[in-house]
Amino acid sequence: MKPPIHYRKQIPLFYEKSEAEYRKDPYERYDGMVTKQSVIHLADEVWKNYPMQAVFDFAENHCADYSEHNILELGCGVGRWIGTLARRFPNSRCWGIDYSYQMLRRASEFWVEGKEILMDLTRRGFAERLTVQGHQLQNLQFGLAKAESLPFDSESQDLVLNSFLLDRLQEPSKGLLEMHRVLKPKGKLILVTPLNFYTAAQWEAFYPPVKLSLLLAKIGFDILDWQEEMVIQEPMDFHGNVVTWKCLGFVAVKSGGN
Ligand SMILES: C[S@@+](CC[C@H](N)C(=O)[O-])C[C@H]1O[C@@H](n2cnc3c(N)ncnc32)[C@H](O)[C@@H]1O
Repeated sequence: MKPPIHYRKQIPLFYEKSEAEYRKDPYERYDGMVTKQSVIHLADEVWKNYPMQAVFDFAENHCADYSEHNILELGCGVGRWIGTLARRFPNSRCWGIDYSYQMLRRASEFWVEGKEILMDLTRRGFAERLTVQGHQLQNLQFGLAKAESLPFDSESQDLVLNSFLLDRLQEPSKGLLEMHRVLKPKGKLILVTPLNFYTAAQWEAFYPPVKLSLLLAKIGFDILDWQEEMVIQEPMDFHGNVVTWKCLGFVAVKSGGN
């Protein structure tokens, strides 16, 4: 694995993000994004369930036994998916990679440093502030890198995960090539995306979903499973307003090997 360029408060930085890039990145906005992502992913009790459970349900049969493996989540945000797997498989080595330092700080505070996180839900119509207690996982690390240029060695990972990332990448194809590069032969990719692309060129390249499946095959993946209409309702407030996402899920293995 490449060494980090430097550390910022214990978070290894594998990419040197410029001031302008920090300023431009919406995911670096603490109130707008870190709080929002924390409320979605770490405050199940206020929603009575985990709003993204459909992602876990889709993945469940495909990551049932990863007890001594290398597991990598890209675009991990506040770390809910990789944190959950790291707790479940304490002998596995887990990494969460994201391009936002602020997301990674929150992820590390909650999953690695065992801090108590205070979430102010009053602006969402809840009367109370919520405190959630973090974990002290020793088999999980978080680092800043671009999914399009990963610090991991080729053929080093058994399982690569990402949700709500692909359509946020400037170069989705490059991201997919990197996922393929770092996977071991027969390693597995689980990808969930709402296909909510930013640009006309990306819509053209990746839509309808069959184009994405053809691209995965061209890159060197065999598709094991896919789900076209995974509906996820992102909760907004106490009143019950939601944003509905219609996602596509893929499970694929890297071709080759025994
Ligand atoms: C919509 S959020 C999704 C977070 C989480 N995976 C989920 O399912 O809710 C997108 C995340 O991808 C990260 N991201 C955006 N571009 C990235 C890139 N090029 N490489 C790695 N992460 C990136 C953002 O910082 C953000 O945390």
